[in-house]
Amino acid sequence: MGNFRSTGCLTITTCTQPTKMEKSSDHFVSVWLSEPRTVTIGVMENPRSETLVLVVDDEENQRTALAGMIALWGYTVQTAADGLEALEKLTTFPAHVIVTDLMMPRMSGQDLLKKLKEQGGGPQAIVQTAFGNLETAVATIHDLGAFWFLEKPVQSQALRLLIERAAAQGRLAEHAGRLERQLSYHGVLGEMVGTSSAMRAVFALIQQVAPSRAAVLITGESGTGKELAARAIHALSPRRAAPFVAINCAALPDTLIESELFGHEKGSFTGAMERRIGCFEMAQNGTVLLDEIGDMPLTTQAKLLRVLEDQRVRRLGGKAEIQLDVRVLAATNSPLENAIREGRFREDLFYRLNVFPVPLPPLRDRKEDLPALVSALLLDMNRKHGVKVTDASPDFLRKLAEFQWPGNVRELRNVVERAAIMAGEGSLLIQHLPPGFGGTPGVEAARSSAPSGQELRVPVGSTIEQAERALIELTLEYTKNNRTRAADILGISQKTLFNKLKEYGSAAAGPA
Ligand SMILES: Nc1ncnc2c1ncn2[C@@H]1O[C@H](COP(=O)(O)OP(=O)(O)OP(=O)(O)O)[C@@H](O)[C@H]1O
Ligand SMILES: [Mg+2]
Repeated sequence: MGNFRSTGCLTITTCTQPTKMEKSSDHFVSVWLSEPRTVTIGVMENPRSETLVLVVDDEENQRTALAGMIALWGYTVQTAADGLEALEKLTTFPAHVIVTDLMMPRMSGQDLLKKLKEQGGGPQAIVQTAFGNLETAVATIHDLGAFWFLEKPVQSQALRLLIERAAAQGRLAEHAGRLERQLSYHGVLGEMVGTSSAMRAVFALIQQVAPSRAAVLITGESGTGKELAARAIHALSPRRAAPFVAINCAALPDTLIESELFGHEKGSFTGAMERRIGCFEMAQNGTVLLDEIGDMPLTTQAKLLRVLEDQRVRRLGGKAEIQLDVRVLAATNSPLENAIREGRFREDLFYRLNVFPVPLPPLRDRKEDLPALVSALLLDMNRKHGVKVTDASPDFLRKLAEFQWPGNVRELRNVVERAAIMAGEGSLLIQHLPPGFGGTPGVEAARSSAPSGQELRVPVGSTIEQAERALIELTLEYTKNNRTRAADILGISQKTLFNKLKEYGSAAAGPA
């Protein structure tokens, strides 16, 4: 039935028919009543009337005719006789769309658009151009950011369609603007978001170390943003124009890892059909991220140490040594100290990589970051899924804050993504959270993206590891061994999933 407002003019028809209300046009409401009586009624909510349109034209007849027509379509319209008057009007009438002429006294249409562009975030402009003046039209779109142009004499249907589109575009821009404003400037570093003191300290560390060429070891649980941090270090360094190359040491079989890192010459081993450039060479003058460094085989660790010390690399099976200028970052989600104690990681390599440690705090220790993170994720989701979600309700945020987030920001991202799709527009509400959210930590996110109907029964007496393994295996069964989907559902990275499978000695750890 739509919403009603209690003001506005209408036509009321009363007659003796079964009680019924109908929307007969944008402006008029007809009412049938079981018996004639006086009714108080409002205008049916018309979203167009909330769209403000400013018509700017120095020719009075043209101006009034256009304004009258646009008002008839249901928009709220005002007029101005030139650019200067338009600017003045806009201070009290924040138009979403302006329809403007170009040639006008005092201030032309071009100058008006220039001014609006300088001010930023102005209305969408539809420009009327003289017939055949395509060049000016294209220039106003390219240089002045006009929405579109219309040749004179203006075709009413074309104008109507354009205003509708421009208004929709304006609404989208407004949503994005509002979300962007919610992210305080200091809460963002590159793509990293965080307003907590813990994250500000991380941002400070990154800003401090980025300009140097020091090796950085980024540590943190899965999903805390280690890769984002590495990218931020590269982006803030003088190397930003050169490549950033990330290699995942866990996802590669031992036999391949050295060839990936250092490259190989044709015929250097069975299967080496072509010469291959390794990561270090690819990242020449730039940055290499050695991800999941803790999983690097010991023999490779020895070779890596030599490369780092000499700043020179030799392709497998090759003779020439290639001089390198590469900055090295490493990341791990399991403390390397344990691996050293267990003899799985070389202590000398650890010192070489850990010149500047950057530890990332888990999300459960910085829940103040949730509102800013949700706003940033929403911006992303609006773009990715074409939804128009404006914000998260206080209740929604409160629920998020009660959760422990074992999968950190990656898990939060999954929950927000699902909620944004469910909401489609407006605010995220509690009902957009996965069923049972806030109960047993970790299980909700899986349920949210895997409504498989399959359940896992774990007898008391099992270890966490056994339960985890059973859940992973069931999820893989559900995704028909699609590891990317399984990792998504489980709220862990593909690498972490791969590692776990490797740990279990599972057949699924083989090539996907
Ligand atoms: N501070 C942050 N601000 C915005 N997004 C973040 C932040 N931290 C993480 N994310 C997002 O969370 C997801 C996981 O981040 P990332 O891959 O960097 O984590 P990770 O620590 O490398 O995880 P893993 O150890 O599993 O590889 C990504 O989608 C990333 O964009
Ligand atoms: Mg990672």
